[in-house]
Amino acid sequence: MLFQLSEEQLMIQQAARDFAQNELKPGVIERDEHQKFPAEQVKKLGELGFLGMMVSEKFGGSGLDAVSYVLVMEELSKIDASASVVVSVNNSLVCYGLEAYGSEFQKEKYLKPLASGQQIGAFCLSEPEAGSDATSQQTTAEDKGDYYLLNGTKNWITNGSTASTYLVIAQTHPDLKHKGINAFIVEKGMEGFSIGPKENKMGIRGSDTHSLMFTDVKVPKENRIGEDGFGFKFAMKTLEGGRIGIAAQALGIAAGAYELALAYSKQRKSFGKPISEHQAIAFKLADMATHIEAARMLVYKAAWLKDQGLPYTLAGSMAKLYASKVAMDVTVEAVQVHGGYGFVKEYHVERLMRDAKITQIYEGTSEIQQMVISREILR
Ligand code: CAA
Repeated sequence: MLFQLSEEQLMIQQAARDFAQNELKPGVIERDEHQKFPAEQVKKLGELGFLGMMVSEKFGGSGLDAVSYVLVMEELSKIDASASVVVSVNNSLVCYGLEAYGSEFQKEKYLKPLASGQQIGAFCLSEPEAGSDATSQQTTAEDKGDYYLLNGTKNWITNGSTASTYLVIAQTHPDLKHKGINAFIVEKGMEGFSIGPKENKMGIRGSDTHSLMFTDVKVPKENRIGEDGFGFKFAMKTLEGGRIGIAAQALGIAAGAYELALAYSKQRKSFGKPISEHQAIAFKLADMATHIEAARMLVYKAAWLKDQGLPYTLAGSMAKLYASKVAMDVTVEAVQVHGGYGFVKEYHVERLMRDAKITQIYEGTSEIQQMVISREILR
């Protein structure tokens, strides 16, 4: 067993670290406060090839492995989870889904601009009444011969107004339940497609989250992904990889908060010495470092399994369940280490603490991960 990154992976990790320091850190507090989408930064991430990392070069991607992807997610998320979620959704949910299951026409037309970072995509599964219970899709796609007629509402859609291409899950044959669900490629600007106001969120406030409304949207038949009725499996397979990306995001948030707490503890003095020399703080740092390292092992292992073509459902859900809990616990402790300073925005840790919470909710809550894990280990 080799716990060592390759030269190429180390270079990519360093590039992401530099990008986070030089491009994401400036203005991150203001973007959070004003809910400003990191548009310029996302454009640059696209130019660096970080928006289509695992897509083959033939379709405009960088042709890299999943381990490189989680390294990038970790580094970006240490600084700005509102930017890293764009990287995660575009790579794992949109590009992966299109490359793995799309037709040649769909890859040429939609994947290329997404993988090369000229456009960004959104993944539209959640609904007002179908979050965790994803088989209960109320959005309908009626087969009209040449096209499908799409009607319904999607909720909590990341990249809701900034995306150009939307992968929308909808019910075509309600009597067949999840076997009647399809996935469609919908373009921004299609008649009948409208975007609700931006959600005012607790965390990842720079990220662009909206409801989407579809009223008699005509979706061409060639925009259905896979065979008729493949949509639910498509969503599940795509989310499996997405969960590794969000686990890496959680890991990065935790590691970012820990690095800040460590640095602060060496510089802040109380009772005549740096607070890191007080056991009360040193033990907190020891626990934080240990839990982060354990989360890192789970995240890297899940990505490695994916790269080997081995099953990663269990590992991905374990990584997400554990890393998101570590993100929550570590960020709370990082605020505590900072004392009163941790409670003000300039010190960054309060934002990381708010951002951590979403990693226990999106792409399957912790309870959904427990459900997936328990089914895998019990079957
Ligand atoms: N791979 C392939 N097929 C799968 C699968 C997987 N991982 N998981 C389930 N399926 C298949 C099953 O085999 C079954 O098909 P068959 O009947 O042909 O065997 C079918 O899907 C239904 O499966 P279940 O009976 O297990 O369905 P369920 O309703 O009991 O539970 C669930 C499924 C795992 C709970 C699922 O509903 C789920 O993952 N829910 C959470 C949804 C989620 O993660 N939402 C996040 C929204 S996206 C987001 O957040 C993106 C963003 O913007 C950041």
